[in-house]
Amino acid sequence: MTTVSEHQFRRSSSSSSHGSDRLSVSICEVMQKDYGLYVWPCSIVLAEYVWQNWEQFHGAFVLELGAGTALPGIVAAKVGALVILTDSDDQPQVLENMKRTCNLNQVECVIQGLTWGQWEATSFTLRRPSQIILGADVLYESRDFDDLFATVKFLLQDMEDSVFITTYQRRSGHRSMEYLMAKWGLQCTRLIDALEILPTSKRSLVNGASIELVEIKLRKMMS
Ligand SMILES: C[S@@+](CC[C@H](N)C(=O)[O-])C[C@H]1O[C@@H](n2cnc3c(N)ncnc32)[C@H](O)[C@@H]1O
Repeated sequence: MTTVSEHQFRRSSSSSSHGSDRLSVSICEVMQKDYGLYVWPCSIVLAEYVWQNWEQFHGAFVLELGAGTALPGIVAAKVGALVILTDSDDQPQVLENMKRTCNLNQVECVIQGLTWGQWEATSFTLRRPSQIILGADVLYESRDFDDLFATVKFLLQDMEDSVFITTYQRRSGHRSMEYLMAKWGLQCTRLIDALEILPTSKRSLVNGASIELVEIKLRKMMS
């Protein structure tokens, strides 16, 4: 069964006077087993980060990995980013659902299949300097972590100023982020407390999940 969830964003009075003060985004969700068809708590946190940092996203090239229902990418498009939404090539129903959501919100995003760790001719068109790569809860299955970071490294390599901003939930049995960063030649910085960024009205939506919000870049080589 398809439902539509409504997500409200408000700007606090102390923030910049530019841009709109509020935003409403509608997301198509399908309540079934497929985990790319409903909104995960990490997505709520990342979307709020995009909203609150809209100046960084306005006019930027944004690529969302494992976008699923694509809430952060849609918010980025709404604040003026040029957005490519991707999910696994073998999840056509997820890509189809994204199209419905883009239409519903009247945003024009490119929607493309991108399976981590696999390279097609089209993958090379996704690399850009100064690109903001987003990923909400893409560190989900530990067996996919190396494929994910192979793709992230491919997208960041030689692309000056590109970054990967991701939210992930600490789950038991996960390999540590430090291990993955060292293995893939990346560095990770915590951006902000994930819960603090959420307005009080949204905190119950993340249901006490322990969520990290980090920025990942290529590790700088010592000269
Ligand atoms: C836990 S869901 C998160 C979905 C969405 N980002 C959110 O937070 O609501 C993980 C997402 O990663 C996608 N995914 C899983 N394995 C993938 C792979 N190997 N390549 C590309 N996408 C993948 C899934 O289809 C799903 O949309």
